Amino acid sequence: MFNLDRHPSGRHFLQIPGPTNVPDRVLRAIDRPTIDHRGPEFAQLTTEILEGLKEVFRTSGPVIIFPASGTGAWEAALVNTLSAGDRVLMFETGHFATLWRAMAEKLGLVVEFVPGDWRSGVDPALVEAKLAEDRAHAFKAVMVVHNETSTGATSRIGDIRQAIDRAGHPALFMVDTISSLASIDYRHAEWGVDVTVAGSQKGLMLPPGLSFNAVSDKAIAASKQARLPRAYWRWDETIAMNRQGYFPSTPATNLLYGLHEALAMLREEGLPAVFARHQRHAEATRRAVRGWGLEVLCRNPAEYSGSLTAVMMPAGHDADAFRREVLDRFDMSLGTGLGKLAGRVFRIGHLGHFNDLMLCGTLCGVEMGLALRDVPHREGGVGDALAYLRENGATVARRAA
Ligand SMILES: Cc1ncc(COP(=O)(O)O)c(C=O)c1O
Repeated sequence: MFNLDRHPSGRHFLQIPGPTNVPDRVLRAIDRPTIDHRGPEFAQLTTEILEGLKEVFRTSGPVIIFPASGTGAWEAALVNTLSAGDRVLMFETGHFATLWRAMAEKLGLVVEFVPGDWRSGVDPALVEAKLAEDRAHAFKAVMVVHNETSTGATSRIGDIRQAIDRAGHPALFMVDTISSLASIDYRHAEWGVDVTVAGSQKGLMLPPGLSFNAVSDKAIAASKQARLPRAYWRWDETIAMNRQGYFPSTPATNLLYGLHEALAMLREEGLPAVFARHQRHAEATRRAVRGWGLEVLCRNPAEYSGSLTAVMMPAGHDADAFRREVLDRFDMSLGTGLGKLAGRVFRIGHLGHFNDLMLCGTLCGVEMGLALRDVPHREGGVGDALAYLRENGATVARRAA
């Protein structure tokens, strides 16, 4: 029988790039009696959450919450704004861009999928070139995955916005921030994003089960013309009911308790400090990887991810066998290689509720696993990470007494 307490003593290390470790404060918030979602307390909860979400997405416009995983929010972004046969421009950054493309095609959209090497983000110059060629403005949307969770390459959304503007193209701009929101700097309004897609289980430090669309006025205008069939995913009904603090159908009440608490935690730490913490842990991780003599999958330092690091396994060594060893010996889950990277990379998640000593434990588990599996490497990568953490100190943010 499935037994949640089967883990050995101590905490399980959940170092996949999402779902991430859920803080005790959030778990305790979730562990409260479910209330009436049509009652007065609930309206206050919703109102406070919707305000807090705007701070995280950096928008003054609506943020719609779905009781769904990120895939639901992908679908909502498309069915609310587009019509069957519409052309959209996408970029093959990795597994998640490939899945979003497949969804768009299943819905009847015509995708131009610009090939990529699964080691890089989206090149803004390529966006500009593709859009400049499209003089008839056939592309109705440009869709980009901000942080490609399968590779650890982060696309430069602000630069891509400028590329779209330089091309003078009116396409909607949709961005998947499922593994970047509340981990890597992101600005929905300033970067002129029309639909931002996000999920609960990564930087927001919640269990899986909620996802989001932050929407611009332009996206709302597009939704009035769009013809793809939509019912459950409609934005308009949710936006209208949210004004009173309610939802058209039963919301995930207890996850919303958790979200309220997670937003409070992010506000206490401050988003700039949250982003700096992620960058620092990412840099320490890369130092460990280089110290081991292994290679970071992401090619371009300007695109290194703050959320995760994908590590290339030396030829002839199976990344999944290594991950299994680390799980069996040290009770730590590392991320698997996805799609065409299966068996060839493992991913270290360093996002969400995470601190220096959790990173040290994570990297120790990796270094011991490499030795146990006889993976060719140099010992001491952990030491390089420790030196970086020690010398580039950040004071632990404490709540005022
Ligand atoms: C960047 C990205 N997009 C989309 C998804 C799909 O989201 P979900 O698995 O929550 O449906 C994921 C999941 O990890 C992701 O990392």
